[in-house]
Amino acid sequence: MRLLVTGGAGFIGSNFVHQTVRDRPDVQVTVLDALTYAGDRTSLAPVADKVTLVEGSVTDAPLVDELVAASDLVVHFAAESHNDNSLNDPSPFVQTNLVGTFTLLEAVRKHGVRYHHISTDEVYGDLPLDTPERFTAETPYNPSSPYSSTKAGSDLLVRAWARSFGIEATISNCSNNYGPYQHIEKFIPRQVTNLIDGIRPRLYGAGLNVRDWIHVEDHNSAVWAIIDKGRSGETYLIGADGEKNNLEVVRTLLEIFGRDAEDFDHVADRPGHDLRYAIDATKLREELGWTPLYTDFRSGLEATVDWYRANEDWWRPAKAATEAKYAAAGQ
Ligand code: NAD
Ligand code: DAU
Repeated sequence: MRLLVTGGAGFIGSNFVHQTVRDRPDVQVTVLDALTYAGDRTSLAPVADKVTLVEGSVTDAPLVDELVAASDLVVHFAAESHNDNSLNDPSPFVQTNLVGTFTLLEAVRKHGVRYHHISTDEVYGDLPLDTPERFTAETPYNPSSPYSSTKAGSDLLVRAWARSFGIEATISNCSNNYGPYQHIEKFIPRQVTNLIDGIRPRLYGAGLNVRDWIHVEDHNSAVWAIIDKGRSGETYLIGADGEKNNLEVVRTLLEIFGRDAEDFDHVADRPGHDLRYAIDATKLREELGWTPLYTDFRSGLEATVDWYRANEDWWRPAKAATEAKYAAAGQ
């Protein structure tokens, strides 16, 4: 199978490529990645001799057409992915997330290539803190930020191309991922690298917002389950019952680092900050038989801390600039 992975030099995409090379030797992987600030070719270094990396944008129609024509399957991870950045400058989010997805859809339509679209639970908006309610594939779309609204728009493009043009496509909407190779602008690696540097973790607002954490390996095994067994035209929600508020995550990290439970700071809240995400993954579990492997959050987090400790060369070059951006926003 000839597989085109967009965004394969980013966090989840690079883990997907590692998993694919490890578990599926019959798959030939080509990565299309623009190598933005969030993409790093060294994230693919361990598999560099087994993967072709093409540096380019998913908005480049001739390049996308050529690569899609030479593929049997496209898995589309490439995106601008950080909510805080989308509040400062939404423009690249519209370009990459909407125009990029459109460009890929036109190419898969022309060449009759199977397509899997990677999306987020944020398309559903947020849930109250104090209810057992969870997102399902039937939850109405109600995105809050420029990031999540462009992801929602991209999902709707996929649905329209499947219904109107009959492309063979599946969509997955996953909750918050953690694990190796995640950019240090994101919550968990930001606090981990702060703690390595002896800096106190930073909590937006009161720290009571809830995210539904899943290890990146479990997200990617679910993506493969959908590719292998999912029904075309369907949407599958991916989550591993990992709800935690941000304060709980910071306290767990402080414990892992042997620091005092109060050793953190509250900083300015994110405008429009979604309160709570929670995934009901019954459809994925029952229809496709998927189960997560990383069911103990604390040990998954410990392994992630070990990875950042052992791979300082990978994250250190981005640390000062990332923190300067947060400092300017009072965060
Ligand atoms: P990331 O920011 O770490 O990586 C994004 C990758 O896309 C980078 O390698 C970047 O260089 C590349 N890219 C950006 N613009 C591009 C363009 N125009 N053309 C080609 N490549 C481009 O993001 P991530 O956290 O790995 O997220 C990957 C996907 O998963 C995204 O679609 C995101 O919406 C989705 N998702 C993320 C999470 C999460 O918790 N991180 C959860 C659910 C869904
Ligand atoms: O739910 C899936 C989404 O998860 C993905 O679609 C996004 O691509 C991904 O970035 C993530 O979005 P969040 O906005 O939830 O992730 P982030 O890591 O930015 O923040 C997680 C929570 O932590 C959120 O409530 C904001 C808070 N936070 C974040 C940072 C960076 C802090 O309290 N302090 C911080 O320093």
